[in-house]
Amino acid sequence: MLSTGPDLRLLRLLSCVTLILLSEVTEAKKDLKSACNTCQQITDNFNKGFEKTAKQNFGGGNTAWEERKLSKYETSEIRLMEIVEGLCDSSSFECNHMVEEHEEHFETWWFKRWWFSVCCPKGTFGPDCNACVGGSDRSCHGNGMCDGDGTRGGNGKCSCVHGYSGEFCLDCIDGYFNEVRNDTFSLCTECHSSCKTCTGATNQDCDECKEGWEDDDQEACVDVNECSKDPPPCTEDQYCLNTEGSYSCKACDKVCSGCTGAGPDKCQTCGSGYQDRDGTCTDIDECSQSEPVCTEEHQECVNNQGSYTCICSEGYEEQDGECVQTQQPGEDT
Ligand SMILES: *[C@@H]1O[C@H](CO)[C@@H](O)[C@H](O)[C@H]1NC(C)=O
Repeated sequence: MLSTGPDLRLLRLLSCVTLILLSEVTEAKKDLKSACNTCQQITDNFNKGFEKTAKQNFGGGNTAWEERKLSKYETSEIRLMEIVEGLCDSSSFECNHMVEEHEEHFETWWFKRWWFSVCCPKGTFGPDCNACVGGSDRSCHGNGMCDGDGTRGGNGKCSCVHGYSGEFCLDCIDGYFNEVRNDTFSLCTECHSSCKTCTGATNQDCDECKEGWEDDDQEACVDVNECSKDPPPCTEDQYCLNTEGSYSCKACDKVCSGCTGAGPDKCQTCGSGYQDRDGTCTDIDECSQSEPVCTEEHQECVNNQGSYTCICSEGYEEQDGECVQTQQPGEDT
C-alpha cells in the first residue's frame, strides 16, 4: 500500500510533472517557471504531510474491528485531506488555486495508484497505454521504435530502423527491396551496389541504376568507365583511376608532364628539366652539358632535381648580380 520511501520519491517527481502538464493544457500561457516552483512546493509539502501522518491513526487507534470494517487511516480519505490541507500557505493564491484545480487528481491518485505511474506495458504508449502500430507484441512490425513505448508519454509514431520506412515500417527505403512482405510482416534487403532502386538482389534486378552505373545490353547495371570519357575528367597533371561506380583523379609524378599512371615511368612526356631515359623520366644534369649554363665570372653550377642554380665560387659573394671577392675581416684591398 502507500508508504515506502522510493514510492514517495516517485510521487514527488511524477506529481509535479503531471501537474505541470495539466497546467500546460488548461492554461497554456501560464508562467511555467513559477508554476513549477509552486508545484515543487506542493509536492514537498505533500511529502512532509505524508510523513507526518504516517504514524497517526483515527485518534483512538485502529482496532482490529476498525481495520476490518472501516478503511485503515493509512489509506483513508481523512488522511489525504489532512495532507492536502497542509500543502499551501493560506496567503498563496497560486498554490491554493493549483491544489484546488487538481484536487480531484490527488484523490484519484490516492485511491488508484496507477494514475501516477509513468509506465505502460511494453508495446504500448501514451496516457491510456494504447497499443503501438503493429500491436504491442511486435510494435512497428518489428522494424522500428514506437514513440513513447512503455511510457505514459509519446505519440506512438514509428521511427523505423535503417532500411525501412513508412508509417508502419513495412516499406523499404531506396536501395532496399521487400524480400518478404504481407500486411504485418516485411523484410527489406539491400539492393546490389549498382542499383538505385530494385526488385531483387542482383545487378539485373535494378529498376534504376545508381549514379556511376549504366544499363548494358542485357539490362543489367554495369560500371561506367569515367576515365575513357571525352573530355577526360581529370586535369593534365593527373591520371584517372576508374573504380566501381566512380573514379578518382591522382596527381602525376612530379617528373611528368601528363601521365597514364603513377610513377616516373608512366609519363606522357617528361617535365621540363627531365629527359626520357629508357622509358623513365630522369633529371637532366644541366651542369655537365657541353654548353656551360652559368656564364658569369667566378660562377659555379649546382645541379638539382629538374633544374640547376648558379652560385658564386668559394671566396666570392654575390653583389648586384655579380660575384665579387669576399672581404676577409682585417684584410685591406
Ligand atoms: C506474414 O508473413 C509472416 C512471415 O512470413 C508470417 O509469419 C505471417 O503469418 C504472415 N501473415 C499473414 C497475415 O499472412
